[in-house]
Amino acid sequence: MPPAAGPSRHAIRLGINGTPYELQVESWTPLLELLREHLDLTGTKKGCDHGQCGACTVLVDGVRVLSCLTLAVMHDGTEVTTVEGLARGDQLHPLQQAFMQHDAFQCGYCTPGQLCSALGLANEGHAKSLDDVRELMSGNLCRCGAYAQIAQAVAQVVLGSGPHTSEVAQRRWIAGTTVNTRAREEQA
Ligand code: FES
Ligand code: FES
Repeated sequence: MPPAAGPSRHAIRLGINGTPYELQVESWTPLLELLREHLDLTGTKKGCDHGQCGACTVLVDGVRVLSCLTLAVMHDGTEVTTVEGLARGDQLHPLQQAFMQHDAFQCGYCTPGQLCSALGLANEGHAKSLDDVRELMSGNLCRCGAYAQIAQAVAQVVLGSGPHTSEVAQRRWIAGTTVNTRAREEQA
């Protein structure tokens, strides 16, 4: 009887946070598992493991990717950035500084994914307002509900120094002013 076929392993090369790796991976190994279980890069978190929460977000060639949903073997030859690659020595990345300044976390479990997602958002260049930031960060859930602070922190880095007023709030404010002005005019 022929021996059972061994696991399907593939040689891949990855740059991870600037360090080159030559790795043997099984064809079904998710990128998240490679990072956490094989390379001990545990900054990237597993939340839902189903592409629903964003906790596992990393950057592949500068583009944000859900590492639980993608196979490591698909990224041969790419550069992966995880939360461990954001700071330069003791100097925090501007996004990390902004998160601290705005108190944009509580338990911190979602924070690595939020930071990598925010960096991907900055690279995309589509966010022009606080509402855009909220929309484009909506794939990253925070069970502690730190959304308002997260949006302010990301907006500070992506849009420049604030305060950033929500466009929706601005429209309501303008509409309210208009109504109140009319009411005052009618009373006069
Ligand atoms: S762990 Fe990947 S999206 Fe939730
Ligand atoms: S800070 Fe706790 S889940 Fe976001």
